[in-house]
Amino acid sequence: MPWDGEVANPIEEFSRVRAELGDTFAIEAPDTTYLFLFSPAGVQAFYAVEEAVASKGIADWQMLRRKLPDELFLDRRTFPHDLFARDDVAAYLDLVRDVLATTRAELGDDGDFDVFSFTRRLGHRIGLTTWAGPCGQPGARLDALIEALDALDGAAAFVEPGGMQEIAANGKATEYAALARAEELIAEAIAERDAEPVRFEDHFQRIVDAWAGEPNRAQGIARDVVLVHLGSMSNLFAALGWYLIDVVSRPAVLAAVRAGDRDVAERSALESLRLSQRSVMMRAVSKPCVIDDGTTQYSVERGVTLATLLPLTNTEGLDLEQWDPDRWQRRRLRADRLPAARELVTTFGHGPHTCPAQPFSLSVMTESVMDLVGHYDFTPHFASPTPVPGQIGGVARASTPCPMTYQARPSPHPSRREERRPSRELTRAELAERAARQ
Ligand code: HEM
Repeated sequence: MPWDGEVANPIEEFSRVRAELGDTFAIEAPDTTYLFLFSPAGVQAFYAVEEAVASKGIADWQMLRRKLPDELFLDRRTFPHDLFARDDVAAYLDLVRDVLATTRAELGDDGDFDVFSFTRRLGHRIGLTTWAGPCGQPGARLDALIEALDALDGAAAFVEPGGMQEIAANGKATEYAALARAEELIAEAIAERDAEPVRFEDHFQRIVDAWAGEPNRAQGIARDVVLVHLGSMSNLFAALGWYLIDVVSRPAVLAAVRAGDRDVAERSALESLRLSQRSVMMRAVSKPCVIDDGTTQYSVERGVTLATLLPLTNTEGLDLEQWDPDRWQRRRLRADRLPAARELVTTFGHGPHTCPAQPFSLSVMTESVMDLVGHYDFTPHFASPTPVPGQIGGVARASTPCPMTYQARPSPHPSRREERRPSRELTRAELAERAARQ
């Protein structure tokens, strides 16, 4: 496997192995045997297996701990499920719109950026504003926190799997220092929240409340924030980058999105996601079980890892190699555009482990792209970008820079002009009023 030794392009390599061995095959690695499943019944069985029998949590942890300090996984109290359990779209959409207004004020009327650097920073700001309250406010603390979080970057475990041996050799020294720095910075934000005269009802407050009265409260809150945030940065900012590129480079879709067609915007987001998926899905078997791939029943022992690979299944058959938002009806594939099993196409997952942040992520993606293309004309200065070849997991990162220039569009009506005024930090009174509204 790519983290055990050099594999230049794991996705191509898996495609080749599968052509040779068929839809079900095993790979012996030093720490586990991977049972890869690609047939319709095999992939259905993969998503249906219960956590108590084959664990996604353990499989993810085994991958991420190659990069992240173990302490980050211990004693967590708030998980994305807790944050997104209620239908919070209205609560976070206001925050997302504020971040977008601030971002536009910083961009000014024209300029250029690298698409994925831009969406990465935007992803940090939207995420931190949503679940870490004051940490998302522009300024030196936000910049320092982004630097620490980028050094921690759990996603490197699957974006640069070949680099994990060096991280182990260094005893994760960089990551431990970055975690300590992030804890320090988040502690400042906790102190600010503690000093607020009003009670907030936002996601950050839920994390803060979970640690009420604990002696290690500040560290506990900070680590909850960091783990949620790193989970978000695995996919969201990269997905936003591909989505912006896809919309900007298709005039008819761009016109519809600009005209405010949210349905087209959301279906386009799903389509960009489908095609940019590089995820390897894994389940660590903890109880012996039987997996039926449609032709054979496999008795699977404890310690084996079940796996499937989205870049292969998401693009196979029908016309699945093409970008076409019309294959979606709202958030599901249309009945007449289905592959042999619905589970063969994955954006946010299937069954019990479906992404709890799907509504949040789709709102952030559509809101961001609708806002940006509504205010700017973009001109890409790159040929078709390609994914980082060594990546196996998450949404693709681009292998080369993707520069774009932007130019403000004439405002259709005065309220738009109003929005483009440089924004400012909210006063305490405004924050309090907003908290009361939520
Ligand atoms: C475009 C953005 C995103 C995409 C494409 C995405 C994709 C996915 C997929 C495919 C799964 C299922 C994995 C499996 O079955 O093994 C998943 C699960 C999960 N995602 Fe996301 N995700 C996104 C954003 C986020 C964000 C923003 C967060 C957190 C803030 C998050 C947290 C999680 C968690 C905690 C799970 C595990 C759920 C469980 O095991 O029950 N995701 N995501």
